[in-house]
Amino acid sequence: MTTKPDPKTAAGDELLARDAKYVIRPWTGTGEPVPVVKGKGSVITDAYGKDYLDFTSGYFVNQAGHCHPKVAAAAAEQLTQITQVSGRHTTPPMVDLAERLVQLTPRSVHKVFFTTGGSESNEFALKMVRQKSGKSDMASLDNAYHGLSLGVLQACAAEKYRQTAGVEMLDNFARLPTAYCYRCQWQSNCKVQCLDNTEKQLEAKPNTAALIAEPVQAVGGIIPPEAWWARMDEIRKRRGLFLILDEIQTGVGRTGKMFAAEHYGLEPDIITAGKGLSGGVGSLAAVIASDELVEGFFGGTTPTSAGNAVSAAAGLALIGVLEEEKLVENAAKMGEYFAGAIWDLKDPWVGDVRFKGLLGGAELVSNRDTRDALSKELVGKVKDHLHANGMLITVSGPAGNVLRLQPPLSITAAELDSFVACLRTALSEVRAAA
Ligand SMILES: Cc1ncc(COP(=O)(O)O)c(C=O)c1O
Repeated sequence: MTTKPDPKTAAGDELLARDAKYVIRPWTGTGEPVPVVKGKGSVITDAYGKDYLDFTSGYFVNQAGHCHPKVAAAAAEQLTQITQVSGRHTTPPMVDLAERLVQLTPRSVHKVFFTTGGSESNEFALKMVRQKSGKSDMASLDNAYHGLSLGVLQACAAEKYRQTAGVEMLDNFARLPTAYCYRCQWQSNCKVQCLDNTEKQLEAKPNTAALIAEPVQAVGGIIPPEAWWARMDEIRKRRGLFLILDEIQTGVGRTGKMFAAEHYGLEPDIITAGKGLSGGVGSLAAVIASDELVEGFFGGTTPTSAGNAVSAAAGLALIGVLEEEKLVENAAKMGEYFAGAIWDLKDPWVGDVRFKGLLGGAELVSNRDTRDALSKELVGKVKDHLHANGMLITVSGPAGNVLRLQPPLSITAAELDSFVACLRTALSEVRAAA
């Protein structure tokens, strides 16, 4: 007797085979790519019919969950009106979104330049401060990630990103310390000594125009204490540096505030935003800049699809949903709940749990006293175990040992409980087999 092939298995296999043949992957990992065919709320479904709770939010984009009906309806309606116009012209959703963004960000920024992605926004931010200051050097932080295009790649700290340049890059960036408190040598005696040499570093680079930094670093979920940002902000102001706050990942509610600048009372000269900004519809990002920087700014030309009307309409609808459904508040609440639940596992491999809203994750160590990072191989096995059990996550952090757990901001406590139960089993089974 011959068994009939399962159509779902055939569809999944076929999609993956054609993906392998035609698509260039930026990276590969075990169990990847997942051939995703559907998403609703916090759940995605693959071509084999398997559901996953999505702790990657479509790469930290789908703040209100996958395919939110109000976001989808706004995009569909806009598709029947106008989709794309030249950067010389404008559309109602583009203007409405710009106005909302200026209202939602600190009063130090006043106007929006639209782009098609986060890296591009940071490129334009750097151009703006270069044009205004006439200076070419910049400062960024250890462990920073600001995008992969060649200019902004210089601001990235990790070799794995920098190596994508192929050959050595010009690098006119001063690299300043980040606030990796879990591995800080001063620990409980924090007087922000990590910044003691920062002013000297900057003195040695008098041609520095700006500091570009994420308010909370997404790689590894590095959350500076308030005193760290207060001191860093004071130093950069004293040195006359513009502040470019990269909120591409922290923005649009992810950290439990609409923009993370609010946590620290920062008044940057530029905020860059992207990812969730278009509600997962197309790619739209923004440079939100001060009047001072905008005055006389020359863009040259426009990124062709910048400010696409469908993406802008979806982004506006997303902001409406975040407000109506109180999802920014939910992110703050669920972040705390999630951290508590993971700590409660009292697992010997959980060295630290860090969340600002729903940005962050759990750092795995082989020994909680020495804080030695768990090997990448074992971290990978934990990830594979979670995937096998329907929990989609990624791994990040300076040592590649942080489970990055960033679900849609609409996630519920019950969904987080089911993840934590899976994590308990994954950690103990991988440990038992190690
Ligand atoms: C903090 C930060 N900056 C910049 C970028 C680059 O954005 P994009 O991938 O849209 O170019 C990212 C993307 O992950 C990011 O997290």
